[in-house]
Amino acid sequence: MNARIETEATLPYYAPSSDEVTLFEQAWRNRLPVLIKGPTGCGKTRFVAHMAAKLGLPLYTVACHDDLSAADLVGRHLIGDGKTVWCDGPLTRAVREGGICYLDEVVEARKDTTVVLHPLADDRRVLPIERTGEQLEAPSGFMLVVSYNPGYQNFLKSLKPSTRQRFVSLAFDFPTAEREIGILTGETACDPMLARRLVSIAGSLRTLKDVDLEEAVSTRLLVYAARLIGSGVAPLVACRAAIVESLTDDREIAEALMEVVAATFGA
Ligand SMILES: Nc1ncnc2c1ncn2[C@@H]1O[C@H](COP(=O)(O)OP(=O)(O)OP(=O)(O)O)[C@@H](O)[C@H]1O
Ligand SMILES: [Mg+2]
Repeated sequence: MNARIETEATLPYYAPSSDEVTLFEQAWRNRLPVLIKGPTGCGKTRFVAHMAAKLGLPLYTVACHDDLSAADLVGRHLIGDGKTVWCDGPLTRAVREGGICYLDEVVEARKDTTVVLHPLADDRRVLPIERTGEQLEAPSGFMLVVSYNPGYQNFLKSLKPSTRQRFVSLAFDFPTAEREIGILTGETACDPMLARRLVSIAGSLRTLKDVDLEEAVSTRLLVYAARLIGSGVAPLVACRAAIVESLTDDREIAEALMEVVAATFGA
């Protein structure tokens, strides 16, 4: 058996949309940081896990929130056994090891926190650690990756232009129908006919005009529905739980969405 196929088979499964795999790889080779934006559940996190494994790099993921401090990323002194020891944060660890530091939902982090990324995200590629006086030079393997969902953004939660203009940006979106069917069968090994039905429901729900949903149904939810149905849950019950109730709390809207589901399953 071909060794390359064997390697590909052990990677976290990711179905590409266009040239994002090559772009990411070339960004890494050229020591450029990458920003990934796109709606929830469209494969951003999976893509990063896939690429880290493909490139053989350790991956440090940080879920950003508005309490995240620069010390949470860089590190801090901890007291134990009567002495103070320095403890690297995930960003510092990724720099030392030449791996990927992935900041998920980066717009949630405070602007004074994201500023620590600046010297690492431009051609200097250094991480000054104020508390220890160290200045770490990032090795060639190191890569900074950030992602966010532009749908949730408001003015206060946007990236500073000086931050975003340090990244190569990849825009992700909902997959085409054929690709989404491929993702569902690849991810859950479900019957292709079921995948086709779920994707057709998603297509209808994503284009519903008069329904006020905060965000359209994600591929993630379709994967949930396929898994439930695959293990014997009735399709309408599975779609209500895995799709409809996860999209809305409004009873009228939920029933309107269920009509689309029922029509697709011929119920
Ligand atoms: N291109 C893809 N290839 C394989 N699986 C995918 C793909 N896109 C979505 N999925 C499936 O959808 C799920 C959600 O994807 P993922 O967690 O990467 O989304 P995300 O974009 O990071 O969402 P969020 O913004 O909510 O974090 C995955 O666990 C996987 O099952
Ligand atoms: Mg994610």
